[in-house]
Amino acid sequence: MCGIVGCVGTTDASIIVLEGLKKLEYRGYDSAGIASLNGDLDIRRAEGKLINLEEKLQAAPLLGRIGIGHTRWATHGAPIERNAHPHADEARAVAVVQNGIVENFMELRVQLQAEGHVFQSDTDTEVITHLVDKFLAEGHDLVEACRRAFLRLQGAHAIAVVGKSEPDKIVAARLGNAGGVIVGLGEGKNFLASDIPAILAHTQQVVFLEDREMAVITADTVRYQTLDGNPVGKEVKIISWDAVSAAKGQYDYFMQKEIYEQPQSIQSTIRGRVDFTTGQIKFEELTLTPQEARNIDQILIAACGTSYHAGLVGKFIIENLARIKVEVDYASEFRYRDPLIDDRTVILTITQSGETVDTLAAMEEGRSKGAKLWSIVNVMGSMAHRISDGSILMQAGPEIGVASTKAFTTTLTDLFMLGMYLGQLRGYLSGAESYALAQELARLPELAGKVLANRANDYQKLAELYYQQTDYLFLGRGFNFPIALEGALKLKEISYIHAEGYPAGEMKHGPIALIDDRMPVVCIATQDHVRDKMISQIEQVRARDGIVISVINEGDEEVTQKSNHVLAIPRVHPLLTPILAVIPLQLLAYHTAVRRGADVDQPRNLAKSVTVE
Ligand code: AGP
Repeated sequence: MCGIVGCVGTTDASIIVLEGLKKLEYRGYDSAGIASLNGDLDIRRAEGKLINLEEKLQAAPLLGRIGIGHTRWATHGAPIERNAHPHADEARAVAVVQNGIVENFMELRVQLQAEGHVFQSDTDTEVITHLVDKFLAEGHDLVEACRRAFLRLQGAHAIAVVGKSEPDKIVAARLGNAGGVIVGLGEGKNFLASDIPAILAHTQQVVFLEDREMAVITADTVRYQTLDGNPVGKEVKIISWDAVSAAKGQYDYFMQKEIYEQPQSIQSTIRGRVDFTTGQIKFEELTLTPQEARNIDQILIAACGTSYHAGLVGKFIIENLARIKVEVDYASEFRYRDPLIDDRTVILTITQSGETVDTLAAMEEGRSKGAKLWSIVNVMGSMAHRISDGSILMQAGPEIGVASTKAFTTTLTDLFMLGMYLGQLRGYLSGAESYALAQELARLPELAGKVLANRANDYQKLAELYYQQTDYLFLGRGFNFPIALEGALKLKEISYIHAEGYPAGEMKHGPIALIDDRMPVVCIATQDHVRDKMISQIEQVRARDGIVISVINEGDEEVTQKSNHVLAIPRVHPLLTPILAVIPLQLLAYHTAVRRGADVDQPRNLAKSVTVE
């Protein structure tokens, strides 16, 4: 949550920071600001979206070869200009941006006020400004003043500081899991960002800060040290994403682009990992011996939101293909239920961002109890990626829309391959079975393309008919039940229509009371072993005049007859069906939100990386 960008070494630093913030607006968008040093410390801040800040900058540009900026998702203090970052002291000696929560801010604020510091905002972050100011006044240089200030903070933080006394540098730090701190290395200029897309236009060479590490960034040098003051050597990583893949291109919204990118992202996910002549699977960063695979007693999947829904499908896949017991938890609940974990347990976390604090906490819980940590993660170098014993990188490319789409389908593809991999190692999948499954995988990108081809009109018509409805129900069974949950989540988060996902058999135990002629009920009724059961649920909805929108396999006349509308997908192996079945639901949500005039990419109150508990 919240996005930080910094740049040093060029006269257009504030423009680079603004452009970077635009790439991070998915992280928070209730207010924003930039500070620059040009002799004096100069700051522009604005309430609301970045466009408001941009207008202010056009009217009064920020000059200077150094700048730090922030786009905010409010925790402490209302989303008004006064509370927007950067926060400076009264004398304008120091400016600070922060992502995270200063848990002891009230205690620090009272102390600092007693010492004469005057606060101008309601935020927790402003205490950092005054702490740095205090240590500067005691005679320390900027880096040491920052270090001493950071040591006083409780909580998790990503921080950047500039100071008038040393106008050539940005001091940055990562303390705990409040989101990434990434240093970007350029030619005669260097960068800082919470996330890679912010600096991709300028460099693909990056360094990730670890917990309790600081970076001192000037135009030509970057020096790293721990919070204890010890120098530390860092590895430079090359990011394979490019600036084009992080741009909207011809599409109206990132979400739309990302929905339509799914055939390619699924293709990239499969590429190089499947031997199509034998069906054997291999992963670059997750390698096991057959014995190690056989030693696994259970896999506990922990994830949030859409990633949790992917985990629910993963349970079906892994239990079916590899015969390992799988449990799935909301990561936010995991550590509070005292899960049974031992050294034959694998904790598999799924996280697009790799920064979700609840998911990282679940990993810590697993680590402390001796489990192996695996992750399926999209962002290379993110915390989840770095602390895992084994990882599968999603290959989805940057996902900017707050509503996750392509990360979901690439995760399901990864889970299918993981199920195959474990099944092969544990001896549950024969060569012939592996070969047959690999052939199904090979068809997947093309089949996803078919679901997307030339159907925009169908979805626009549905959106036109039902965009004013206040409630939706989504029903599915078996591996399509998580797809019902995901369809409901997509619709509610971007269109603000109340939507619930239910296992279809549960409908009669409660939600049926809601059904009348104003209730669209989306039924996922593909041709699998529970299709007949789905048909009886559809009959029950029809008997109460509900509006039935069915996701069917192409040519299913029986379900078509019983439905008001159908959205057809091609047939594929049952365990791959969820990957195709979710695409119509993404499109339904997208077109409904567009018809309602909602902000598809930046829905209210949400943020892409949830780095607070
Ligand atoms: C998805 O549409 C949501 N924005 C949200 O549920 C998201 O999937 C969740 O916050 C988990 O994020 P992660 O995958 O980055 O951990």
